[in-house]
Parts: sequence; C-alpha cells; structure tokens
Amino acid sequence: MQIIIYDNAEQVAQNAAQWVLSLLKDKPHPVLGLATGSTPIKLYNELVKHYKAKRTSFAHVTTFNLDEYYDISCDSPQSYRSFMQHHLFDHINIETANTFLPTCNKDQDPRKQGLDYEAYIKQAGGIDLQILGIGANGHIGFNEPTSSLRSRTRIKTLTQQTLLDNSRLFKSNELQPSLAMTMGIASIMDARYILLMATGKHKADAVMQMITQGVSSNCPASILQMHENAVILLDKDAASKLPDHAYYEWVNEQNQHLNEKFGLFHKF
Ligand code: PGA
Repeated sequence: MQIIIYDNAEQVAQNAAQWVLSLLKDKPHPVLGLATGSTPIKLYNELVKHYKAKRTSFAHVTTFNLDEYYDISCDSPQSYRSFMQHHLFDHINIETANTFLPTCNKDQDPRKQGLDYEAYIKQAGGIDLQILGIGANGHIGFNEPTSSLRSRTRIKTLTQQTLLDNSRLFKSNELQPSLAMTMGIASIMDARYILLMATGKHKADAVMQMITQGVSSNCPASILQMHENAVILLDKDAASKLPDHAYYEWVNEQNQHLNEKFGLFHKF
C-alpha cells in the first residue's frame, strides 16, 4: 500500500485527479471504476475543470460504478446514476453508452444481473483504475462488514450505520432503499490500480483499521493490504490515528523521484 497524507481534502482531490489524468494520457481506451458518496465529489469537480480547460478528454473512456440502489429508477434524484450524471457525466465528453452501473429492478434476477455486470467489465478489458471511498464502518462499495472477501457483484442488505450515514441524502417523506447492488470485494481487487480517498476525522478509525490491523471481513477495506497497486490518499484528519507519518513522508519523497522519471503507472 502506498499511503499519501495531504493537508486537506482539496489536495487529496487534486492529486487523485492527477492519477486519473495520467491514466487517460497513457491508455487509448481506459476503463475507470467510479464511486459515489461525498468524498469523490471534489475529485469529479477537478476532472470537470481539467476537461473544460481542454487538458483531457473522456471520449474513449469506459466507466463502471461500484454500486446502485436496488429497484430504483435511473431518473430518481437519489439514484447513483443521477449522482454521476449530475457530478460528472453531464459535464464531460463521455459517451453515455460507455457508462455502466450495476442496476437491478425487482423483475430482474439480481444473481443474473450481477453475473452480467462482471461479464461487461471483463469484455471492456477489466478496470484499470478503481476509485474508492471508505465507509466509517470500513466498507468499500456496499460491501459491508462480514462481506465475503471473494464476493462478486451481487445484492447486499445495508447496515443500520450505512443507512444512517446516507439518510442525509433522502427527504423525510422519501423511501430510502435498504438493498443495493454492489461490485464484490473480489471484483474490486481485480482492478489493476486502486485509488482510495478518505477525508475527515469520522474516517480515522476505519483508515487505521484498514492499514494497521489484520485483513478481516470486519473491515472490508483491509483487503487492500493484499492488492499489488493500492494507493491511499488521506487528509490529515483521516490519517490522525495512523502511527509513523514520518515514514510515509519519507517513502513518498522516494516515490516522487520515480514518478517524475517514469510516470505514475507501470505500463499496462
Ligand atoms: P462518503 O462515503 O464519501 O459519503 O463518506 C464513502 C463510502 O461509504 O464509501
């Protein structure tokens, strides 16, 4: 794991955007894994800024989102499709046909929908760079604690904590779905690179557990310890319970020399 600690959430987003821009420059048909939630909004704002300044193009990009509420209409303002349109897709030159979310309505078999989603990812050549947030309970995507570490795209029941964390996005008279389709932990681990962003004090415990405790389905994000290319971008608050900040700074100085000389990614 490469742990990089920045002063604030703005710097986390600006540096995350550099990883995305670098991938788009390196690869003719890049495949991005995308996340919803508050954390990636600043990253999406950065990407839109770079696109508008003509520094990048999304014309040949394919995207796969981590998750979507079960049986929600795409047009619903609470759907993750609407979130992505609003924060990113409506503002860049991406083909809507190349943007995928694991949708499933109540007339469809979620097991088949899950298998189909995995097949689409494979057909696209696999995910080059997966963007992730982390839940205060350590979840990635909607893989809640005790999710199988080898899980694939499937339907999941959300925990009370996740429902509570996300309730701010629903009005009091709206029905908040308690089921979602989510890429599994094994699906996420298949990505060639992972970029996890965490900001704010409320993430400090989950971040500490992910990085310093044993791999356990109690903290699904801890599986990233087993990923070959996992980059963790933190602000000071999210990193506040980590020991050894000086070591991470020292490692990053070394990595920066390598990155400047050879680029951020190994060749795909
Ligand atoms: P947040 O959610 O970015 O809204 O904190 C992260 C997550 O639940 O993965």
